Amino acid sequence: MLDHEQVVVRSGRRSRLPVIVAVHSTALGPAAGGLRLWHYPDWRDGLTDALRLSAAMTAKFAVAGLPSGGGKAVVALPEGMVLDPDRRRDVLEDVADTVESLGGTYATGPDVGTGPDDMAVIGTTTRHVFCRPARLGGSGDSSPHTARGTLAALRAVSRRLYGTASLDGRRLAVAGLGRVGTELARLLAAEGAALTVTDVDQDKRKTGHELGADWVAPDEILAAPVDIVVPAALGSCLTRQSVTRLRCDAVVGPANNQLATPDVADLLHRRGVLWVPDYVASAGGVVHAVSVEVHRLSAEEARARVDAIEHTVTDLLTTADAQDLSPAQAATALVRQRLAAADPAGRSAA
Ligand code: PHE
Repeated sequence: MLDHEQVVVRSGRRSRLPVIVAVHSTALGPAAGGLRLWHYPDWRDGLTDALRLSAAMTAKFAVAGLPSGGGKAVVALPEGMVLDPDRRRDVLEDVADTVESLGGTYATGPDVGTGPDDMAVIGTTTRHVFCRPARLGGSGDSSPHTARGTLAALRAVSRRLYGTASLDGRRLAVAGLGRVGTELARLLAAEGAALTVTDVDQDKRKTGHELGADWVAPDEILAAPVDIVVPAALGSCLTRQSVTRLRCDAVVGPANNQLATPDVADLLHRRGVLWVPDYVASAGGVVHAVSVEVHRLSAEEARARVDAIEHTVTDLLTTADAQDLSPAQAATALVRQRLAAADPAGRSAA
């Protein structure tokens, strides 16, 4: 069953690459979600990713209490393709045309493989774009805010498990040192956490060293003997197999779509591992962008909203306990409830 409102797949006029925009739901408001510029074995894998990621955006906004809907754009690059600057511009202009053709139903933003400078290019064609550089009137890079929001989620979990929101002395394993993972690792190191890190890119060892972190191979990080594992790379890291290797109390991180299949959430719960749904922990970036660019809040007010993710997670864990649900089940129920309240006809059940 297609539970998306609209999916556009086009061959880019300039780039000839597959441009995919998935609008999952506009029940709460116009859809927003980042542009993922990434390699896929087949463009259909990019389509699958866009469908899953856009549904996660619907859930992300619903739990964050923001009047936006869920969407995502993916440009599926063939494996090994490197975009030179001209080709990159072609790709971004193709995406911009597609976004503009949707007339405001969907606004794009940064995601894996894109950043504020790319949003500036898209912004020359369409105003439906978040996170352009501040000098162009945008809210800038969303990564530091996503990191800050994840830290807020970690505080809630820490208070719950260890009785203190402080992460000083806590052992955390950060899987992925991209823009968000690195910033989060910095915040954690500054607070006195003991870090184990990894990345598929060996060059990131240097970053790990600067942070005073232990380095392990990517396939070892989930099995690291730490308090909390923090997925901060690409999705689907939590599989039926991989979760049997976990030696931590909790898994909380900013990576989107961490579960390979939905049933893994139950498995984690049964194993006594506290998993905060990715769409709850990773909301800081969009919360900041929407607060500043749509609701015109000050930087300070936007930051307070990002920090409030701590309360959202605390409430979620309390509700889950009271109703004898896993945090994932409690989050799903909250999403359903918020969508149903906005759209009683139930067009877009998450
Ligand atoms: N990459 C962001 C996310 O997954 C997407 C985003 C950020 C969209 C900021 C709009 C504005 O949440």
